[in-house]
Amino acid sequence: MSASLAARTPTYSRIELATVTSRAQANLLGNIHGGEVVKLADSSAGVVAQRHSGGPAVTAALDEMAFLRPVRVGDIVRTYSQVNWAGRSSMEIGVRIETQPWDDPTTEVLHVGSAYFVFVAIDAAGAAREVPPLRLENAEDERRMREAEIRRAHRLARKAEIDAARSRD
Ligand SMILES: CC(C)(COP(=O)(O)OP(=O)(O)OC[C@H]1O[C@@H](n2cnc3c(N)ncnc32)[C@H](O)[C@@H]1OP(=O)(O)O)[C@@H](O)C(=O)NCCC(=O)NCCS
Repeated sequence: MSASLAARTPTYSRIELATVTSRAQANLLGNIHGGEVVKLADSSAGVVAQRHSGGPAVTAALDEMAFLRPVRVGDIVRTYSQVNWAGRSSMEIGVRIETQPWDDPTTEVLHVGSAYFVFVAIDAAGAAREVPPLRLENAEDERRMREAEIRRAHRLARKAEIDAARSRD
C-alpha cells in the first residue's frame, strides 16, 4: 500500500446507477442478455475505481459474477458499487444489482446479481500507478474487505497452481 497517498473511505467513491432495460438488450429467450448486465456492472465499477484512484483505471479481471435471477425487458436496473479492497495499484470493486419492473413501484425489489471486479489504476503511459489505501468505516466494510482478501487469495493460489502445472508439461 502507498504511504504517500491519503487514505479514502468507501463512501468517498461509492455510487448508485439506474437504467431501464430495452428490447434491444434481450437474448433469444426474451430476457436481458447476461453480457448487458456484466457491461452495466463493469461500467459502474469503473466509475468507482476512477473516483477512488483519482484518475484512469482499467478492468483487469472479473473475479466473480453471480446471476441470481433473470433481468426482464422493462426492468429498472439499479447498481450499488463500492471499493472493497485496495492494494498497491489494484482495487476490488463490488457491485450489487437490483431490479424492479418500470411500471409498478409496489413490486418487490429483487437482488438479481453480484459482481466483483479487479481494476488497476494506470498512468498516461498505461503503466500501473499507486492508489490510495482504503480507510474502513464500519463492520460491513471490514466484512467486505475480508471477503475480498479471500477472493484474492484464491485467485493467486489458482494462478500459481496453473503456472506450476504448465511448467511440468
Ligand atoms: C491491468 C494492467 C494495467 C496490469 O498491468 P501489469 O503490467 O500486469 O501490472 P503489474 O504486474 O504491475 O500489476 C499491477 C497490479 O495489477 C494486478 N493485476 C494484474 N493482472 C491482474 C489480473 N489478471 N487479475 C487481478 N489483478 C491483476 C496485480 O496484482 C497488481 O496489483 P497491486 O499493484 O495492487 O499489487 C494490464 O494488464 C492491462 O493494461 N490490461 C488491459 C486492461 C484493459 O484494457 N481492460 C479493459 C478490457 S477491454
